[in-house]
Parts: sequence; structure tokens; C-alpha cells
Amino acid sequence: MCGIVAYIGNREAYPIVMKGLRRLEYRGYDSAGIALIDKELLVYKCKGKVDDLEYFIGTQNTLGNIGIGHTRWATHGVPNDVNAHPHYSQAKDLTIIHNGIIENYNAIKKALTLRGHTFTSDTDTEVLIHLIEDIRNNAKVDLVEAVRLALNEAVGAYAIVILSKDNPNQLIAARKSSPLVIGIGVDEFFCASDATPIIEYTKNVVYLNDEEIAVINRGEELKIITTKNIAKTPYVQELELNIEAIEKGGYEHFMLKEIFEQPRSIRDSIRGRVLVDQGLIKLGGITEYSQKIVNAKRIIIIGCGTSWHAGLVGEYLIEDLARIPVEVEYASEFRYRNPIINEDDVVIAISQSGETADTLAAIELAKSKGALVYGICNVAGSSIARTTHAGSYTHAGPEIGVASTKAFTAQVAILTAFALSVAKQRGTINESRYQQLLIELDTVPELVEKVLLQSDKTKAIAAIMKDAPNSLYLGRGYSFPVALEGALKLKEISYIHAEGYPAAEMKHGPIALIDEEMPVVVIATKGANYEKVVSNIQEVKARKGIIIAVVTEGDEHAALLADYIIEIPESDECLVPIISVVPLQLLSYYIAVMRGCNVDQPRNLAKSVTVE
Ligand code: G6P
Repeated sequence: MCGIVAYIGNREAYPIVMKGLRRLEYRGYDSAGIALIDKELLVYKCKGKVDDLEYFIGTQNTLGNIGIGHTRWATHGVPNDVNAHPHYSQAKDLTIIHNGIIENYNAIKKALTLRGHTFTSDTDTEVLIHLIEDIRNNAKVDLVEAVRLALNEAVGAYAIVILSKDNPNQLIAARKSSPLVIGIGVDEFFCASDATPIIEYTKNVVYLNDEEIAVINRGEELKIITTKNIAKTPYVQELELNIEAIEKGGYEHFMLKEIFEQPRSIRDSIRGRVLVDQGLIKLGGITEYSQKIVNAKRIIIIGCGTSWHAGLVGEYLIEDLARIPVEVEYASEFRYRNPIINEDDVVIAISQSGETADTLAAIELAKSKGALVYGICNVAGSSIARTTHAGSYTHAGPEIGVASTKAFTAQVAILTAFALSVAKQRGTINESRYQQLLIELDTVPELVEKVLLQSDKTKAIAAIMKDAPNSLYLGRGYSFPVALEGALKLKEISYIHAEGYPAAEMKHGPIALIDEEMPVVVIATKGANYEKVVSNIQEVKARKGIIIAVVTEGDEHAALLADYIIEIPESDECLVPIISVVPLQLLSYYIAVMRGCNVDQPRNLAKSVTVE
């Protein structure tokens, strides 16, 4: 979702800001803009991609050592040139870029209109910069104080950066519920929504906290105050990211790179945690709370999108192995449905980005009711990582493709380790099965590697599915969430309508859709429900559906029934989701490429959903 980049220093700002905007393209956006100061305040913005913005700017003036840039994902007002950021104040001497939503913008707009302000866009952002200007002019305060007072009036979420024509030596930035990172170089500063635009210039960063305002003056130390006007000492951290991790490394798309990275990313997620030699699991981030977790009456898992699917796998794992009741909730529903949360509940919040607005709000709700919140996040230093009591990073590395792949398998790997560790402490798993699962979990990266070797076969199946308008994904037990995730991947990037269903439920509805045109992807690996799934395949076959089955290596019975098969290596049933999802990721990828879709930046989607 919206991206922010800003620069102040001795270099030309334009190339740095434009490159930063390209680095943020993965977040999803529909218009882009930039503001620079070269004596005049120069603002260029348009609907479309960063390439369109560059084309639009052409040979116009792009000089200046200070600049801000933005990629906008429309919330208030359609994506067009006018609604794109930056936005001007009434006198056009101030300009702002903003991520988030100012919820009371309408009331502020009405009041400002009565005071003579006129607005050109439909955005809440333009209202905010007019409010700042109005306070500065009427309260006769400096810009920093005007920003502070305005933010006290604004309700909602924001990450903002402001540029003033009269002060080409200053950037003012602030955040509340929307991330903002400040990079500190030598005589230069960078601001961005995440560290990707900053990493090639400096590793020293400060993550702004909620309700903090950064005053960035050229040639001075970074100054931070809160919206309550309390001075804060900036906490400088060193980024662990490297530049290779955010480049394509020879792959055609980030998504393909990330799918192929999974043997590595799963390994990194369990490294130092699944200790086969010592026969134990160590999740350092939760040790302090292990008694509370082991004694939990109930576990509630919250997340959105793919992370929610990982949560569903977590439910099967935790109930199966550790015998604690689990509920899995969409964070967006959980937060608004007045849920019953007790002090002896443990809430697991799963998020790749660590910034999803609904998940963050659900965490706050759970915390306010006294529950322990355990976060599973991929992005170090993210809001969710910082707000949860305990946590485990997934160590999948930056995920740039909008459709989540390696984050999912890393999340499930952590949940598996978590379930096993709790099961062991609760005595709900016998020692030999525990040790066996530890060994098998440790070999999962190699099994995923084997699946990836068959990518050509998956590509051939993609060619068969690519023109289908609809498709169905079926699975039972541990494979049901995988079916949901397979269907989600397909619709996200290929725009083919796909539904994931528990295989047995098919006869209560979706079976009506099946005919000789309908591809049905069935996860039919060996396990407790195997025979039942085979019966479901028969039901599809009887209605002439095209069956694509993910089966256990060497399963000739299923191979005979299906039209096409993808084999995966045998493993314990509870580890299958991490492996069986991989061919489904590849299938969606190849189908989307064959359909000419923008795989890494699918239409309308955002990578980091910072609005509710
Ligand atoms: C967006 C992304 C999905 C992701 C979901 C939850 O919709 O496009 O890939 O699964 O948000 O994001 P999170 O960062 O919380 O995992």
C-alpha cells in the first residue's frame, strides 16, 4: 500500500527519490508523484506507474537536494492525477505526502471551507496540509508546531512527510499506525515507508514510533518530539537487510525468485530453533512466557490473507499435537465483533509485513483484555513485532512479490515448531514421535527442493489451466488450508476465479459448477483422509471435471484417477502443507505469466495493507 520516500542531503534528490519509489512499487499503488525544491517548489504527479511519472516529467526541472516522493493506493478518491500525492496547501508553499487515512477529514474540510480554503482533490491528505497551513497562519506558530497541533486534531492513521518552499533545509515527518523509517547517512537523511529504498545508502535507521514527529534539518542531528511535545532521543538501529535480498537475482519475477528461495527461507526459519542434535525445540522469543502458553485454556490465531491461511494450518497442528483448543479469526472480523477474550488466552498474530492495520488493531484489543500476544512476523522492527509481548521472526527475508509465498511456508514452519514444543511441554506427544517429527521438520527444506525440480511439469499443467475462467481447489484436514491458499494464489495473480473448499463440502454446492471445462485441483497426499479424498476425486471424475492432483510420490492409484498429477515426496501428514503448497504457488505463477499478468504487482492489490 502507499509508499513514501524522502531525501535531504548534498546529492541530487530526484534520482534517489525515483529509485526509492521503484523499490516501493511492490507494495501496490495506482499513481505516483514527487516534490523537489529548486528555489521553487516543484510538484509532478500522475496516475499510473513510476515509469509513467518519469515519462511525464520528461525534461522538466528536477534539480534540488531535497525531495519527497509517493506511490498512492487509492482510498479517498479515484486514482487520477489530481488525487495523486504530493498535495499542496492553499498558498502552495507547503506540500505533503501521506500514507494512512484521516478519518475526521470531512469535518475538518467543512470547517476549513468556511474559512476560505478551497480543495482540488477528493483526498483526506489535502485536508491535512490545509489544516497545518491554517494553524501555522492563524496561531502564528512555526511549521513544526503547526504540524504537531494539527496531528492532535487529526483522527486516524498517518505516515507523513512535509516539505516547505520557504525552508529547503528541512523535512518534517511523523507517524501514527503507519510505518516510517528514517535513514541516517553522512550529512544526509532518508525517509521511507520501509527500509528497502534506504538500504543502499545507509544501514543506520530510526523507526519512528506512533505519535512521534521527526524534525530533519540539513546539517543537524535528527530531532524527535512527540505529538504531546515531549523530546525523545532517537534510537538508532542497524539494518540487517542486504541489497541482494531486494533484487531479482536473475529471476524473471520476484515471485519466482521467492518460490525458489523456499528451501533456504524455511531452513533460516528453523535454524537455531529445531535442534535435532539435542532433540529439542527452542523458540527463544517465547521462553519467558512458556508457562502461560503451556497452560493456555485457548489459543486464538489472527491474521489476514495468506497469513490467515497459515493460521488455519496452525490450528490443525496445535490441536492435533498440543491438544489446546484453537480458534482462527480474520483480524478484521475479530476486532469488531466484541469477541470474548480472557486473560488465560494466548493470541497468535501472524503477519508477513508486521504492518497490517486490522491485525494491529486486533492485537491492541487482545492486549487490552489481558491476553498474551505472540507475534509471528517477517519484517524486523515492524509495528506488530514491536507491539506484541513475545515473538518469533520468520527470517524468510524480504518478500517483494505481492502474492505471499515464502512467508507462508516460513510461518507454517514456525507454527509447526511451536506446536511441537508446546506438545512436548504438555506431554501430549510421545517422545519417539516428537523426535521423529523434529528430524522430519529438519528435512523439509530438502523435500521442497525436490518439488522445485519438477517445475517444468507444473508449467505444462499451467498451460492446460490457463484459459479456464474458474477453478476449484479441494483438500481435507491439513490440506484444506492449502487448498484455500492455492486458490488465493491463483485469483490474486492470474485473475482466474478460484475457490478453495474442504473436499467433502464440495457436494453441498460447488459440485454444481463441475463440467468438462472446470479444472479441479485436489491435494490427495497420503494421510488419514486419503481414501476419503480419493472418493471426492471420483465424484469430480463422474462429472467430467479436469482433475489435477497433488499426490505422494509413487501413488499409482491416485495417478490413474487424475488427469494430471504433481508428485511430492512423502512426509508426516502434519508437515505436508509446507511442501504441497509449493507446486500450487508454481502453478499460479506460470498461469499468470502465460496470461500476460503483472505477477509481482497484481492489479488492485497491496503488499502491506496499512488501512483497515
Ligand atoms: C495483503 C497481501 C497478502 C497478505 C495479506 C496479509 O493482502 O497482498 O499477500 O497475505 O495482506 O498481510 P500480512 O503482511 O499481515 O501477512
